[in-house]
Amino acid sequence: MRKLSDELAELRTAGLYRQLRDVDSPQGPRVTIAGRELLNFSSNDYLGLANDPILKHAAVAAIERWGVGAGASRLVCGNLAPYRELEEKLARFKNKEAAIVFGSGYAANVGTITALVGEGDVVILDKLDHASIIDGARQSGATIRVYPHRNLKKLEELLKVTAPGRGGDAAPTAPEGTVVGAASPPRPGRILIVTETVFSMDGDLAPLAEIVALKEKYGAWLMIDEAHATGLYATNRRGIAEATGVEDKVDVTLGTLSKALGVAGGYVVGSQVLIEWLRNRARSLIYSTALPPVVCATAAAAVDFVMSAEGHRRRDQLWRNVSEMKNGLSALGVENESRSPIIPLIIGEEGAAMEVAGKLLDAGILVPAIRYPTVPKGKARLRVTVSAGHTKEDIQRLLNVVGAVFNRDRGIVGKEVLGSQLETAPTIVSEKRLLRPAPQSAALRKGRVSVPNECYFLTTCVEGRRPVLARAEAAKIVIDALRWLRDEGRIRLLGFVIMPDHVHVALALQSRQECRSHNSTTDANECGSDIPVATLAEVMKSWKGFTSRQLQLSCGMEGPVWQDGYYDHLLRDRRDFETRLDYMHENPCRGGLVQFPHEFRFSTAHPDYENEIDWNWMEGIPENHGRGRNAAPTC
Ligand SMILES: Cc1ncc(COP(=O)(O)O)c(C=O)c1O
Repeated sequence: MRKLSDELAELRTAGLYRQLRDVDSPQGPRVTIAGRELLNFSSNDYLGLANDPILKHAAVAAIERWGVGAGASRLVCGNLAPYRELEEKLARFKNKEAAIVFGSGYAANVGTITALVGEGDVVILDKLDHASIIDGARQSGATIRVYPHRNLKKLEELLKVTAPGRGGDAAPTAPEGTVVGAASPPRPGRILIVTETVFSMDGDLAPLAEIVALKEKYGAWLMIDEAHATGLYATNRRGIAEATGVEDKVDVTLGTLSKALGVAGGYVVGSQVLIEWLRNRARSLIYSTALPPVVCATAAAAVDFVMSAEGHRRRDQLWRNVSEMKNGLSALGVENESRSPIIPLIIGEEGAAMEVAGKLLDAGILVPAIRYPTVPKGKARLRVTVSAGHTKEDIQRLLNVVGAVFNRDRGIVGKEVLGSQLETAPTIVSEKRLLRPAPQSAALRKGRVSVPNECYFLTTCVEGRRPVLARAEAAKIVIDALRWLRDEGRIRLLGFVIMPDHVHVALALQSRQECRSHNSTTDANECGSDIPVATLAEVMKSWKGFTSRQLQLSCGMEGPVWQDGYYDHLLRDRRDFETRLDYMHENPCRGGLVQFPHEFRFSTAHPDYENEIDWNWMEGIPENHGRGRNAAPTC
C-alpha cells in the first residue's frame, strides 16, 4: 500500500490525479457544487432529459409497479418485463431485427467484442476509440491492430495485411476467412473493425461511408458505437449510420441509454442471430445483475420523448446552441474540428489544462479537464459539451471567459489579434433548412448529368491561422485557383463548396483528347501536347501553390496552411456523385453548422458560381465506371 501512495503522489505531480466531485443537485445546465451554482458545460445529457419531469414521472410509476431491484442476472430471474419492452422499442427505433440491453455502455462494448472475436481473430480499432472498446478488444484475446485516427489509408493497409487475397475487384467474400500470422482458431479467423461514429473526446465523425466500403471490400465485420450520436443525428434520430445511409451495411450497432437519452445502460441492435449470440455469449450480460427495471422503463420513455415534437424542438435548439458556440470560438481563433455537441479546447500539457479548468471554475463554469490516459499524453483538453438547455447568455458567458483566460494563458490567437480581419461569422441556419434538397442535387436526381472518367471528390483542410477561408478575399482566391486550373486544361470543375476552414471540390482530370474536344478555342497542339495530363497530386500541388502565392500577393497573408494530404474519392458513377453532393449539402450531421448551399457565398450552388459547373460535359457520359478506388483521407 505504501507503494500505492507513492504512485498517487506521482500522479499528483504529473497533473494526472483524479478526484470525485460531489454534486448536490440534479444534472442540468446548472449544477450545485459545495453550495455554489455553476454553469455546467460538462455533461453528455445533450437534450436535457436527465432531470426532465416527463421521465421522472415515468420513473416514479415504474418504481411503484416494479420496485427498485432486478434481483439477479437477466438469465437467472432478472429479466423483468420492462427489459422486453425496452428491447422491442430499441429495435423499432433503430430499425433492426432485435436489440439487447446491458448494464452500461461500457459493459455492452466489452461483452459484445469479447463475444464476437477471440484468439486467432483480428480486431481493428481507430486510435481514438473509447476505453470500453479497447478493454473489450484486449479481453477478447484477438490480435489488436490500430489505425491512426480516421486514417482510411492506414485502415486499408491493415486490412490488406490481415486479409491477403481479398480486396481485389472480386466480389467480397463472406465476413470470415483465414487470418495470417495468428494462431489457428477452430473456425476461420474473423476481422472486426470497431469505430465510434462521434468520437467522445474530439467530437469529430468517423468517415463511415468509406469504412463501410473497405469492410465490404475486405470481407470484415463492422461494429459501430453510436453512444454520442443516438438521438441527435438524421431524420429518425438513429445516428450517423442513418445520416450516412449505411445502416444496412453495419453488422453490429451499439448505443448507450446514458447520453442523449439521459438515463443509464447500453445496448446492441442488429440481426436476430447476433442478438441471440450475445444473449448466449456476452459475459458482462450473463454474469451481472440486471439493471433495475425502473431504468429500462425510463429509458423506454426517453426513446418516445426523443421522437416526440418536444424531442425535435430540443434537438433543433441543441444544434442552434452548438453553432453559437462553434462560431463564437472561431471568432476567438480557437480551433476545433468538432461536428457534434462535444467541443474540445486542446491545451496540451496536463497541468496547464487543470489550471485553465480551475480558472473557469473560479468564474463559475464547470468544464472538465480531460487528461491522459483518457486522451494521449500531451493532448490534455477542456471538453466542452453543449446542451439544449443552455441559453444564448450561458454560451456567451463561457465564450467571454474562454476569450479572457484562454488567450491570456495559452497565447492562442484571439479576437483582438484577428480583429478587423475577420469577416462576419458564418450565418447559422437550422437543420430544417439544410434538409431541403439543394438545387444541384435535385438536378442530379432527375438524371440530367452523369460522371466522366477520372472524376474525384476532394476535401482538403486549411490548417492553422483559422478561419482564413471565412474571409471573402481568401475564398475568392481559392476559386480563382480552381478556374486557373480549368483554363489551363488540367481539370474540369464539377462543383465546389468553400467552408470556413476546408474546401470540397468535385473535379475531373483532363485527358488530352478531352482538352481538345472541349476547348475548341484552344490550339490543339498547345492543349494536347504542351500541357501534360496532370495527375491528381500535381493538380493539388498547383492549386495550393497558386492559392498561397496569390494570398501573399493580394492580401499580404502568409498562408493558408494546407494540410499535407487531402481526402480523395474517385467517383464510381453518378449515384456516387449524388451521394457525395447530398452529403455535402444536406447531411444533417452538419445541422446548424453550415449555411444552406445556395445561400453560401462560395458554393457552386450559389447563382454567382452556378456557371462554373461544366454541365454539358457531364451529359451523356456512361454512368458505370465502377473502379471503386478510395484513397488517402487525411482530413
Ligand atoms: C463512445 C462511448 N462508448 C461507450 C461509453 C460507455 O457508456 P456508459 O457511460 O453508458 O457506460 C461511452 C461513455 O462513457 C462512450 O463515450
